Amino acid sequence: MPRPLIIAPSILSADFSKLGAEVTAVDTAGADWIHLDVMDGHFVPNITFGPPVISAIRSSSKKTFDCHLMIAPADCYLDAFAKAGAEIITVHAEAGPHLDRSLQAIRALGCRAGVSLNPGTHESAIEHVLDRLDLILLMTVNPGFGGQAFIPAQLEKIRRVRSMIGDRPIDLEVDGGVTPETAALVAEAGANVLVAGSAVFKGGNKESYAANIKAIRTAAEKARAPKSAA
Ligand code: DX5
Ligand code: ZN
Repeated sequence: MPRPLIIAPSILSADFSKLGAEVTAVDTAGADWIHLDVMDGHFVPNITFGPPVISAIRSSSKKTFDCHLMIAPADCYLDAFAKAGAEIITVHAEAGPHLDRSLQAIRALGCRAGVSLNPGTHESAIEHVLDRLDLILLMTVNPGFGGQAFIPAQLEKIRRVRSMIGDRPIDLEVDGGVTPETAALVAEAGANVLVAGSAVFKGGNKESYAANIKAIRTAAEKARAPKSAA
């Protein structure tokens, strides 16, 4: 059975002056998960928000809070993100020397454990932790900023990781430069969770968000549909 298709808007592209309302708006516009990009100005060259902000917006949506930690070190903050309401916590394989330990710690907190790979990192980095994973997040831009162009060379990595996963119950998430056009490519390659920031929040109102999410979902669904023999 293929994993369900999930569209996860990244609030990095939301209007931060009314973040709670923006989270509610993408929720009602059809988001499956809410993607939270946490950046520390050290692991990536940008700073966003941390546990207090996540805690403050937790009541704005009942959808899964998918927390992407672009921070190093990460281990000492996992507990704070779990307490703030993160349900999925993803750490970068490049962020610390003890990935196996980080993944165990995330599950011990009662959260789903994810690992992310930068575009330049080979998928062999996660070969020996597959059974500790609930999610693999492949970056299709270099992390740090929204609105960057999709890196097509990552499509091959999505295919390889899809095949590494086999029949394990692991979601394969793609993050960066996802638009209706690239959504079709990543879905065809095997991704089932699509993060999109600028392509969802463009337009700035909930009618646009609904249309934007629908366009991404429709393109991905079409690419995932079994090809007819005709
Ligand atoms: C990049 C973040 C992404 C980003 C995606 O470091 O992890 O989630 O917000 O933004 P878009 O969809 O605009 O590329
Ligand atoms: Zn992200």
